[in-house]
This record gives sequence, C-alpha cells and structure tokens, in this order.
Amino acid sequence: MQTVTTLPQLRQAVDELRKSGRIALVPTMGALHEGHLTLMREAAKVGQHVAASIFVNPRQFGPNEDLDAYPRQLAEDSAKLEAEGVSLLWAPDAEVMYPPGYATNISVSGVSTGLCGGNRPGHFDGVATVVCKLFNQVRPDFALFGEKDWQQLAVIRRMARDLDLVLPSVDRIHGVPTIREADGLAMSSRNAYLSAEDRAAAATLPRAMREAIARIGASQEVHATLAMLEDELLGAGFASVDYAELRDADSIKVLEANNSNARLFVAARIGGTRLIDNMEVI
Ligand code: PAJ
Repeated sequence: MQTVTTLPQLRQAVDELRKSGRIALVPTMGALHEGHLTLMREAAKVGQHVAASIFVNPRQFGPNEDLDAYPRQLAEDSAKLEAEGVSLLWAPDAEVMYPPGYATNISVSGVSTGLCGGNRPGHFDGVATVVCKLFNQVRPDFALFGEKDWQQLAVIRRMARDLDLVLPSVDRIHGVPTIREADGLAMSSRNAYLSAEDRAAAATLPRAMREAIARIGASQEVHATLAMLEDELLGAGFASVDYAELRDADSIKVLEANNSNARLFVAARIGGTRLIDNMEVI
C-alpha cells in the first residue's frame, strides 16, 4: 500500500493505478473498525484498486464537538488497510486540504435539514465540501459510504446529482448496510469513548428501535411509539435524545404515518457520547 500526503504525490499514484483498472474510494476519518473494513471489502468487489482516505475534517465538527478528542491512530489504521489489500492511502493534513485563503463551501439544502443537520449546524456543509474535494482529488470510478450515516449518504448523492459529478457519478456512489456489534450496537469510532457501563446500556438503542419498528408496523401509532422509544432510552441510562423520528428514506422529509419508504432515525447521548442509528421500517 502506498501512503501519500500531498496532491502531486496523489495525482501520480492515481494516474499509475488507473492504468490497470478502476478505482473505488472509501473516505474515512480513521480510527478504523470492522464497519470501515467492510466498506474496503465491498470496494474491492467493484474496483480493481481500493483507495482509502483518512482525514479528520475540521469543517464538519461544531465548536463544542469532539474534533480535538477524535481518535487519531494512523499507524494502526495503515496496518489494517494494508491487511485488507488497499492500494492507496490518501492522508492529507488540514493545511493541504484547506490551504490559507481557502474560501469555498458546498451547502446541500433539503436532505440536510433536520436530524443531524438540525442538531449539528453546518455539519453537512462540512461533509459535502470535503467529500466533493476528495472526489476531485482522487477522481474515483466508485465511492462507498455506510448506511449507518444514512442522511450523509443522501446529502452526498444529492450533491453528486446537482453538481453533475462524473468521477464518481451518482449511480456509482454505493451504500453499504450498517455493521453491528454482537449485541446490535452499530459500530462507530465514538463507541470507544463509552465506559463499560454505558457500553452495556448503549445496546438498548438498537433493541428499542427494533421494538418501535414492530409496534409501528402492528399499530400504526407513530407518535406514541416514538415517545415510548425516547422514554425507554432515558430509562436505560441515556442522558438525552436529540431526535427519534420517522422520515422518508430518500427525501428525508418527516413522516407522520408509516409508508413503504419509511425509516426510523435516532440520535441519543450517553455518558457525553452521541450515538446515531437508523433502520428500515417494515
Ligand atoms: P467516518 O465516521 O470515519 O466513516 C467513514 C465511513 O464508514 C462512512 O461512510 C460511514 O458511514 C461508514 N461507517 C461507519 N460506521 C459504520 C458501520 N457500523 N457500518 C457501516 N459503515 C460504517 O463518515 C465519515 O467518516 C465522514 O463524514 C466522511 C464521509 C469521511 C467525510 O469526512
């Protein structure tokens, strides 16, 4: 695996790889876990070469968020990527991504409204901006993202459509289902922040979401069910619930009643850590 940290190095490495096949890019912020590594394996199925990026993007963190505390472990991450057969690691620092004088922002409206866009103002501008830059820097044939961050995927697809992106085109932006721990908790780099007690309680989140989905399916009582879900999380030791909402999977608009395209989205805080999850309502 070749690791590059400057744009000229990246350009050269990408040009070389492209000669022998198509490139699938997996953007990450590092602190890699099985969820990320699954994306690498899926990428290897669609491209001859897998490129990964590791960049903890300051523009997508709010002023009171965990930018400084976010786990950084490049040596460990590189070893994991190497073991997965990744060809290229793009690991720029913040000055390479945003040199002095940098002034451009990409803002996707609609799909970025509410949910994490409501709780984290500016977050999806930061995501769209850095992902657009990563696409232009690497010019991958495919890019893969996790469904764990469903709204993020919707924002990126909207941007690709709206800006007529070519590398990758919107139909080559693939979503990969959420990878979970044995107790159902969605894997996340932020799970490492949890104490043993909070980690055990965190499993209530996916369990309560599954119960809520069954109840919505059986009773169609959306509001009462979402209120029960919040109570269950607070009762299990969560400090607060940022949102628990039923929304359309594509437009991300709020749904008052269940329909065939409904998805349940939850964000809740435990021991200072914010956890998110989303599931299809069947
Ligand atoms: P990060 O949180 O590091 O996640 C990188 C990719 O891994 C994202 O596409 C995310 O959805 C996916 N992922 C994380 N946990 C997962 C899980 N349990 N199952 C499946 N996929 C999972 O998301 C970001 O970084 C950033 O916002 C980024 C897109 C890199 C832009 O900075």
